[in-house]
Amino acid sequence: MTTATLARLAVFASGGGSNLQAILDHLDALGAAAPAAPVLVLSDRSDAGALDRARARGIAVEVVPRDRPEGIAAALARHDVTHIALAGFLRLVPEEVTHAFRGRIVNVHPALLPAFGGPGMYGTRVHEAVLRSGARVTGPTVHFVDARYDEGAIIAQIPVPVRSDDTAATLAARVLAAEHALYPRCVAAVAAGEVSLGADGRVRGTATFDFDRAAPAGRQTVPAG
Ligand code: GRF
Repeated sequence: MTTATLARLAVFASGGGSNLQAILDHLDALGAAAPAAPVLVLSDRSDAGALDRARARGIAVEVVPRDRPEGIAAALARHDVTHIALAGFLRLVPEEVTHAFRGRIVNVHPALLPAFGGPGMYGTRVHEAVLRSGARVTGPTVHFVDARYDEGAIIAQIPVPVRSDDTAATLAARVLAAEHALYPRCVAAVAAGEVSLGADGRVRGTATFDFDRAAPAGRQTVPAG
């Protein structure tokens, strides 16, 4: 991949940023083959741990307060961002941004969408709802982002078992480990153009990920469109 085609990635995060870290580590591991360079970490909270992780890596940071969402598009323009990964960003991204970045903005949700998603379903609430439901399987979903919470086309999922003695905390930790395996690979696949969003709203392309150490389900593939 040449510098000219390198995606310029922004990661949006409101919290600790462990998914941000997983993305940065994965891009590092890919070295010269990395399809994206992280150029911006954006948060709605000035105390987000994700900002410290970015600063430690020399990555530009921007804080856009909740009452000034128009600042998001301006920050993206300042840093010539081409692709966006939401990683625990607890605000709805303005429609002008999801529209402008259609097919180049992704999110990770800590449950198997379309179940357990939508407004208000974030953090520990998701895992509590899974436990209440009696579902025996959960796991992360990576999807393209559109103007509605958690409704964009699904790129990939990993099944994670729900144990009878799980609490929301133990379940969250198991799902988060699967997120760290899945999300960076999906971000790289989208940045590389291996996976894309068709005009019909369906996911195109196939990327094979090795989940052997992440989930008992073994190898899985992103579905062809
Ligand atoms: C993750 O569980 C992710 O699925 C959700 O928010 C959490 C973020 O965790 N969207 P972190 O900030 O990446 O550690």
